[in-house]
Amino acid sequence: TAAGFGKERMTIIAHRGASGDAPEHTIAAYQLAVEQGADYIELDLHMTKDRQLIAIHDDTLDRTTNGSGKVHAFTLAEIKQLDAGSWFNHKYPGKAQPYYHGQTIPTLAEVINHYGKSINYYIEIKKPQQTPKMADELLRVLRQQQLIGKRTGPADRGKIIIESFHPDSLKYLRHKAPELLLIQLGEDAAEMKLAEIAQYADGVGPNFSTLNEEFVKLAHRHGLLVHCWTVNSETAMIKLNSWNVDGIFTNYVKIARKHVGKHGE
Ligand code: G3P
Ligand code: MG
Repeated sequence: TAAGFGKERMTIIAHRGASGDAPEHTIAAYQLAVEQGADYIELDLHMTKDRQLIAIHDDTLDRTTNGSGKVHAFTLAEIKQLDAGSWFNHKYPGKAQPYYHGQTIPTLAEVINHYGKSINYYIEIKKPQQTPKMADELLRVLRQQQLIGKRTGPADRGKIIIESFHPDSLKYLRHKAPELLLIQLGEDAAEMKLAEIAQYADGVGPNFSTLNEEFVKLAHRHGLLVHCWTVNSETAMIKLNSWNVDGIFTNYVKIARKHVGKHGE
């Protein structure tokens, strides 16, 4: 499947898009990730004051735009005025080749309208306290774009993966849309209760630095995928691949594509 079971190599998830090479969560970063050969693009979602889902990691605008304040305090129209690209060039002047001025914060609908079924999406709901409001809106958008629901078939399974640190958000989605693949994120692999997680999710997503080979085997014995974050060094990519990890979140899709061969290599 698209998600990694039975695959010969790890699934590469572009963490916030190709965020090592372009400003995170912009169309430019997603496009670069697609061009670099990512299997999934990751979107972190927040909700605007007028209940639109937008792709941004922080719950404030300050780090990645020229605006400031809480995301939920602004309407989409206000947020669309902001520049989500220029900060990247200022922070990494040598690295950024194109000038990213003019990139805006994308809505979920905008991104999936743009790519349709041509790519796979890895979606994180960032505000557990806003479940079910955000989850319902997410499902509405996915259904409207025919990414889930009546007009989809077995080939569409795995096209959307939902990840969350919060079991309640995942359990809600399992109940509302059982066809979605769900990944339980965690800070520490050792603290993840695999038997429990296997009741409501399809995989685990721990911090890669807390993983060992035994954990990967154990998770697989529970029927769980292992997708870990956030893997940016070549050495770590190669090691995780040799442990049969199913997928990695990375800011550097190009490096992952180059170095990650078949499992066990
Ligand atoms: O999304 C996977 C993992 O990177 C979670 O951390 O903070 O980058 O969304 P964050
Ligand atoms: Mg994330």
